Amino acid sequence: MNLFAKKPISEIIAQSEDGEHSLKKTLGPKSLVALGVGVIIGAGIFSLTGIAAAENAGPAVVISFLIAAFACALAGMCYSEFASLIPTAGSAYTYAYATLGELIAWIIGWDLILEYAMGAAAVAVAWSGYVTSFLKDIGLVIPAQLAASPFDNMTLADGTAAHGIINLPAIFIIFLASVLLMLGIKESSSANMIIVVIKLAVIVVFIGIGIFYINPDNYVPFIPENTGKFGEFGWSGILRAAGVMFFAYIGFDCVSTAAQESKDPQKNIPIGILGSLFVCTIIYVVFALVLTGMVNYQDMRGDAAPVATAINRTAFPWLQKMIKVGIIAGFSSVILVLLYGQSRIFYSMSRDGLLPKLFSDVHPIWRTPWRSNILFMFFVSVFAGFFPISKLGHMTSIGTLFAFVIVCAGVLVLRYTQPALHRPYRTPFFPWTPIAGILVCLTLMYSLGAETWMRLLIWLAIGFLIYFGYSRFHSKLTH
Ligand code: ALA
Repeated sequence: MNLFAKKPISEIIAQSEDGEHSLKKTLGPKSLVALGVGVIIGAGIFSLTGIAAAENAGPAVVISFLIAAFACALAGMCYSEFASLIPTAGSAYTYAYATLGELIAWIIGWDLILEYAMGAAAVAVAWSGYVTSFLKDIGLVIPAQLAASPFDNMTLADGTAAHGIINLPAIFIIFLASVLLMLGIKESSSANMIIVVIKLAVIVVFIGIGIFYINPDNYVPFIPENTGKFGEFGWSGILRAAGVMFFAYIGFDCVSTAAQESKDPQKNIPIGILGSLFVCTIIYVVFALVLTGMVNYQDMRGDAAPVATAINRTAFPWLQKMIKVGIIAGFSSVILVLLYGQSRIFYSMSRDGLLPKLFSDVHPIWRTPWRSNILFMFFVSVFAGFFPISKLGHMTSIGTLFAFVIVCAGVLVLRYTQPALHRPYRTPFFPWTPIAGILVCLTLMYSLGAETWMRLLIWLAIGFLIYFGYSRFHSKLTH
């Protein structure tokens, strides 16, 4: 029975409104959409699009973006229903604890490490790619082997083949972001607005110039023929690319963590979530069309900085540096928000007793969970330093998709088990929306392949060991 103990909603709200957490309610719909766009646009679009086109879908990566957006919209509606039920600075973990019980909450909380910590590692690797390229432009060369993981192959200047050793710039940005968070520096709403404007400016400039350099031949064939292997072009390739590019939409759920700071959260959180998804979908589709029109998809194999490649083919290569700085600033803010989200979730889990107290120990001066920040700094650094972006991205995608499946299932179950709960926002087309959400997210998970599934299962198994070995006996709710 204890496994399904639920935390009363009144307690969650009381806890989140004590002392330092009673925040001013200032965010309206525009700020919330900006918040979402600020987290969403990052490594996915600027670093993975080219690779997904080259290895999986060709120009049809555009269709993959639409499929991934559909999955996110379905999950986003379910997310909104939860967020309106419990309008606090929560995450899927908090919602699950209140409605589905402790075990499911634990699974989501544990799984969200993949979304936030692993996601931060993936973006850090992308950051490293653009930073080393920018430094090279200004004459500072970082040895290639010190900016790549041991899984990355490369050809050295003397023509010999080599592997990477460690991705030092990726570790550096994780270190920097963690120190900032430890000191209590997080992005304010106005800082976020500036970053969003920079990101949008990069995209608008790219599209505005690129559109004149599209070669229609690059769109033929739009859906390259399948090579005979699942995931390599054809429709299975489009599907796999949708699973991969799903990464580009991750982060919209962060909007719900701002519920306490928003005016009329019941109405505005769904607008923030769905609005930011909508804006990003349009941007991504146009961006992908222009990119694959400018550069033939076959030329983007392994290219983690396709924007730079494309701009080099225009008459404006001098724009390179500015664009790279914009992208680097954008990535930095995504890393900061993801790491912040991670520490918040572990903070809540630790306050509930499911994790040791050190994750919620607040520093007397900085008022931040600094020990948690340090531990995650090491954890995320290991992944950022020694794994390639594709593996990290796939893990982040599968973990987040799994969380979405549970959120959709949660909405479904709760409508039947607690029909009387006051739901200011109700997922439309019930029960089809959550059912479709589960099916589409599972399909995308399937497309990511057996190896990624194995890793997810191992990760969840470790989570179970910790829950049944520790958390169950320390839960404040049941002890
Ligand atoms: N959606 C975020 C990105 O693409 C995680 O960087």
